[in-house]
Amino acid sequence: MNATTPAAGDTASLIDLGHRYFLPVYRQRELVLERGQGARLWDSEGREYVDFAAGIAVCGLGHNDPDLHAALVEQAGKLWHTSNIFFSEPPLRLAEELVTASRFAERVFLCNSGAEANEAAIKLVRKWATAQGRPPQQRVIVTFRGSFHGRTLAAVTATAQPKYQEGYEPLPGGFRYVDFNDIVQLETAMAAGDVAAVMLEPVQGEGGVMPAASGFLKQVRALCDKHNALLVLDEIQAGMGRTGSLFAHWQDDVVPDIVTLAKALGGGFPIGAMLAGPKVAEAMGFGAHGTTFGGNPLAAAVARVALRKLASPQIAANVSRQSNALREGLGAIGEEFGVFAQVRGRGLMLGAVLSSEYAGRAGEILDLAAHEGLLLLQAGPDVLRLVPALNITSEDVAEGLKRLRAAIAAFVAPR
Ligand SMILES: Cc1ncc(COP(=O)(O)O)c(C=O)c1O
Repeated sequence: MNATTPAAGDTASLIDLGHRYFLPVYRQRELVLERGQGARLWDSEGREYVDFAAGIAVCGLGHNDPDLHAALVEQAGKLWHTSNIFFSEPPLRLAEELVTASRFAERVFLCNSGAEANEAAIKLVRKWATAQGRPPQQRVIVTFRGSFHGRTLAAVTATAQPKYQEGYEPLPGGFRYVDFNDIVQLETAMAAGDVAAVMLEPVQGEGGVMPAASGFLKQVRALCDKHNALLVLDEIQAGMGRTGSLFAHWQDDVVPDIVTLAKALGGGFPIGAMLAGPKVAEAMGFGAHGTTFGGNPLAAAVARVALRKLASPQIAANVSRQSNALREGLGAIGEEFGVFAQVRGRGLMLGAVLSSEYAGRAGEILDLAAHEGLLLLQAGPDVLRLVPALNITSEDVAEGLKRLRAAIAAFVAPR
């Protein structure tokens, strides 16, 4: 046994620490991940996994990307933290690069997570509406059922799913919910003229990997223009190249007023961003919002490299190639075992919807997949979610599909 090999029993005792000391808000799989390379991971027992989860759509460049690693190490030797009352170069450069890449934004607010980016967006909407002389009751934000916008109190209120809100009442006011992809409901919800913004994900992630219908975002944009409301796009999961273009909404041919980013922006280092277009870029002045850590030099140095690499044509080409391979493989598994009703999504944000016979059993498949050496996600109880690294190789996709097939075979086998 060398120095890095754990003593027998270590894994169980580590997991026991989690059970004893973590607030029990998660139900982790019973394994301890130790090391990653590309789209493969190894646990504390030396078992290897194909990673179709990528830290919940975070590790867009896989694990241990050499360029991200170099950027982090270089910055770590210079300066870790300044707070936002002083400038440092990485966040300054990152802000400029995000504005340029976005094709719409004029200003950026850097933060640490998706929920914070959405919180900033919600506050910016409110400030903008206030500056227009709208009273509080005319600052409503419309969001969509099945959405997920984060866990802070305002973000969870924007998240139109009761399961995330129950027990946290009283929730902040001023939110209204309509069905996703239902333009008639949205029109009705905006008819009174009290809506300041419509906020949505171009592809709903946690809500079941549900893409906006073709043309829907354009219709939403038109309603926002008609009612002088802002269009806020949450691209925290769907952005940064995941759906095949750097920004998901490029495929919907709309110009938003605000876009939020996080997850893959830091390639695994926590960072979030809110991008503000011309209508709202000046709506928050000195003292209106803030954060101690947001735009931290370490995070920004890594994000600059992640942004550059994720915006490359090679990534877009690979997303398209591997998306086709995954769809084909999932289709074949679905046909062989009759487990999937549908495969949906865009790019490398894919959902395999369980057929009615197996509804509610996604968690069991995730356990079996882990047993076969494949890490997967679910999006609710009925959908398997695949969000691998955007630079995943054909070999890793093929191996992951092979392991998924084995897991599904075990799942449907009579017990
Ligand atoms: C679309 C979307 N918005 C917001 C969030 C919240 O991000 P975070 O967990 O970094 O706060 C998530 C996280 O899953 C997400 O998928």
